[in-house]
Amino acid sequence: LAALATGGEATRPWSASGVSIDSRTLAPGDLFVAIRGDRLDGHAFVASALGKGASAAVVAEVPDDLPPHSPLLVVPDTLDALRGLARAARARSGARIIGVTGSVGKTSVKAALRHVLSPQAATVASDGSLNNHWGVPLSLARLPGDAAFGIFEMGMNHAGEITPLSRLVRPHVAVITAIEAVHIEFFPTVEAIADAKAEIFQGLEPDGIAVLNQDNPHFARLRRAAEARDVARILAVGSDPAADVRLIEWTGDDEGSTVQASVDGQVLAYRLGVAGRHWVTNSLIVLATVLAVGADVAAAAQALAGLQPEKGRGRRHTVRLPGGGRFTLVDDSYNASPVSMAGAIEILGHASVGPGGRRIAVLGDMLELGPQASLLHAGLAQPLLNSGIDLVFAAGPFMAHLMSALPAPRKGAHAEDAQALAAIVVDAVRAGDVVTVKGSAGSRMGTVVRALLALDALAATREIAPRRVNGG
Ligand SMILES: Nc1ncnc2c1ncn2[C@@H]1O[C@H](COP(=O)(O)OP(=O)(O)OP(=O)(O)O)[C@@H](O)[C@H]1O
Ligand SMILES: [Mg+2]
Repeated sequence: LAALATGGEATRPWSASGVSIDSRTLAPGDLFVAIRGDRLDGHAFVASALGKGASAAVVAEVPDDLPPHSPLLVVPDTLDALRGLARAARARSGARIIGVTGSVGKTSVKAALRHVLSPQAATVASDGSLNNHWGVPLSLARLPGDAAFGIFEMGMNHAGEITPLSRLVRPHVAVITAIEAVHIEFFPTVEAIADAKAEIFQGLEPDGIAVLNQDNPHFARLRRAAEARDVARILAVGSDPAADVRLIEWTGDDEGSTVQASVDGQVLAYRLGVAGRHWVTNSLIVLATVLAVGADVAAAAQALAGLQPEKGRGRRHTVRLPGGGRFTLVDDSYNASPVSMAGAIEILGHASVGPGGRRIAVLGDMLELGPQASLLHAGLAQPLLNSGIDLVFAAGPFMAHLMSALPAPRKGAHAEDAQALAAIVVDAVRAGDVVTVKGSAGSRMGTVVRALLALDALAATREIAPRRVNGG
């Protein structure tokens, strides 16, 4: 089957239970596809993959470090072969397929969809942020034959990249979360970004459904693009009275929101386990998508109460301090852009602090912003001040522009990088504080998160130590 799907030639018969392109995370039985990346060539890891139990390897040339008679599938181009496997998996699938794109919120919406659909039927979704020219075919190639719902994230840095991804995925439902000035390095205008996201309709199945955010300024442009593809239905999501999925009202707190919405005429009240206005919007997009795939919308809405922020995306921790007392850490270190920074700042501004506590933002550089980067960093000063953030700590060359734009009382400290900043923040944090840590993944603000979490471990050893003395 794999030989057929890839047009390759097998050195001997084998069968695989999964697909992997990374020998480090490979599970025994996986088919290993050797992909040539920007930095590494998977062909160098074929021996190690087979050693870890890969059922076979798809290669463009046979590495010379392999034992004789290794199970191989030799193909002209391994990425093409991966796409062939993806196409075959898609062709044999009876699942309702959902494609998710947008400037921000793709992984969030994908994870929330998986959370609400899983209790209803067998559901799979792409891992992490596997959304690019190899991540999408890899995710699709892994689609099990018995899945009822498949959710695939599609991302891009350039015009023309979503079209082939969507034609591979062939979604029944195409979701565009939001259009924002994110990853703008390679785009002249935000409209050009909207057009690039609208490429998702190129792969939409006949009678497909588009889910669009009506509150986004580029809604009309996206709707036109969807209409040009003859979609069966466009579900508009937003606050507009005419929206198909309409926000009626919501109230937010530290842990999440309580929402009332009308979904295709049905009024639903639900609890959402993740905080922030942008998550309310995401939840409406999720319910519209559930409606579009024909699943139970009311059950999905109830399931949103159990949704938790993913690691690095706003997860809350209560951290004990070695000197006594505790503070709240919000770990949003996985990702950052001007729009998601605004969301995180708003949440921090509303956070309830303990006695004597402060609202502290610990920020790392936002990457991929092109020539506007310095301006966009300095531009965070106003929302920080408006939201009543008490102190700002920052790391990285771009964040230096934010620091210069802040008045002295709000300036915590600026450091070259996350590592240097971590020590400063660890010294500064006090009982009752709420500390939000956020930056682009490349800014490595996870270092600061780990340093702050380590305080809890230290506090734990101090709590145990005296007891041991007393008991002895
Ligand atoms: N609708 C939204 N509006 C603004 N910010 C959002 C929205 N949804 C999620 N966020 C925030 O934006 C950040 C990125 O979210 P997420 O990882 O879901 O985006 P993504 O589109 O998958 O990003 P990437 O392009 O890096 O894969 C997170 O901090 C998240 O909390
Ligand atoms: Mg993502």
